Amino acid sequence: MTASVRFDPGGPLRGDYTPPADKSISHRAALFAAMCDEPVTVRNYLDSEDTRSTLDAVMALGAGVEEEGEGCFVIRGGGLHAPLETTEGLLNVGNAGTLMRLLPGWLAGQPGGVWTLDGDASIRRRPVDRVAAPLRLMGAEVEATDGRFPPVTVRGAALAGIEYALPMASAQVKSCVLIAGMNASGSTTVVEPAPSRDHTERFLRRAHAPFEQDGARLTVAQVDELELDEVVVPGDPSSAAFIVAAAILVGGSRVVVRDVGLNWTRTGFMRIAERMGAVIVGELEEPGTEAAEEPVGELDVAAGALEGTVVEPDEVPLAIDELTLVALLGAHAHGETVVRGAEELRLKESDRIAGAVEGLRGLGADIEATQDGFVVRGDGSPLRGGTIDAKGDHRMAMLGAVAGLASTDGVEVAGMEAAAVSYPGFERDLRSLL
Ligand code: S3P
Repeated sequence: MTASVRFDPGGPLRGDYTPPADKSISHRAALFAAMCDEPVTVRNYLDSEDTRSTLDAVMALGAGVEEEGEGCFVIRGGGLHAPLETTEGLLNVGNAGTLMRLLPGWLAGQPGGVWTLDGDASIRRRPVDRVAAPLRLMGAEVEATDGRFPPVTVRGAALAGIEYALPMASAQVKSCVLIAGMNASGSTTVVEPAPSRDHTERFLRRAHAPFEQDGARLTVAQVDELELDEVVVPGDPSSAAFIVAAAILVGGSRVVVRDVGLNWTRTGFMRIAERMGAVIVGELEEPGTEAAEEPVGELDVAAGALEGTVVEPDEVPLAIDELTLVALLGAHAHGETVVRGAEELRLKESDRIAGAVEGLRGLGADIEATQDGFVVRGDGSPLRGGTIDAKGDHRMAMLGAVAGLASTDGVEVAGMEAAAVSYPGFERDLRSLL
């Protein structure tokens, strides 16, 4: 059932706000916990459709998952190499691209196992050849539909380490190869064209895996056992970004975001917004930091007059899920905002270049698509408003809601229920700050 929800101009936004748990880190917490020999307690695990798919997948593979309170799970896995309970079967990843790309890395190193991963209509349009290629080089058999899409079948094998230069800056592909590397003979090196979110690297360090980083070269060696202490998942900066954007756009707003992840590979949007004129005070992690822990802290956000900016390709992976919000800020800013090197946006839960351009243009924005991004021009006045279709994409639904608050006439978001994929309480949180 699709829900059409109206967001009228309103505000200012004021008060304290705690975002939901990080989606990327929750997926990894469940997978890494399931790969450990000893039980791992995960606190503040994200309660969303995507992250439920990951818990279901590890349970289908034989891990025990016990809920000990809200957001607290004890995960009992069978270890990295221990035979999984099921050696064949169908795993449903739902809408979760991260699960679709990371899990094959673990399955590929289980000789004798055969699994097929499938999901919803959106997941069936998202390429998996990007993980199939390196896994085949390591020795696994991977068959994708039309050579490129889910459903994808992974036949586990005795893997051999490789050196792999990533063709695109993708944290999902990097993570898949590093996870497979733990079960591969020798060592496995991934070379990144530009830094992308580094949560898998931090998990490898925390789980005492033989992992080394030398700039863009990430190397993991074969390992028998992982050991992980309790994991506490921080708040998701990508979810928080929608509330932050609303606070930036609605005059007179002041929001304090608490317990949010400040990992530098995730806070590109905050740096771009600051450069455009937003007031964001907080201890963002220093770019380039290589750490085991996830930094968590507070952001104090206030509206400010915005100027256009240019987002260059190197900044793109650090703000990949927030670039449609950059388009929205650009539409409200003085001058031109350009995003380059973001062709990956076409391969997300929906084509987010087309979605942002068509969607924001329908609300009155002067925006056009380029092959690898978009150009948006503004004169500092707010968008008019209208209707926007989320097209089943959680982040497009939340973009429409924020656009509505900042508009003169309001926005009707068709398909608002998509927000539940990453942020079931979004509408309630947004309205509670008004
Ligand atoms: C993610 C990586 C990014 C991001 C996605 C989550 C992750 O995708 O867009 O929402 O958790 O590793 P890519 O690796 O495809 O860029």
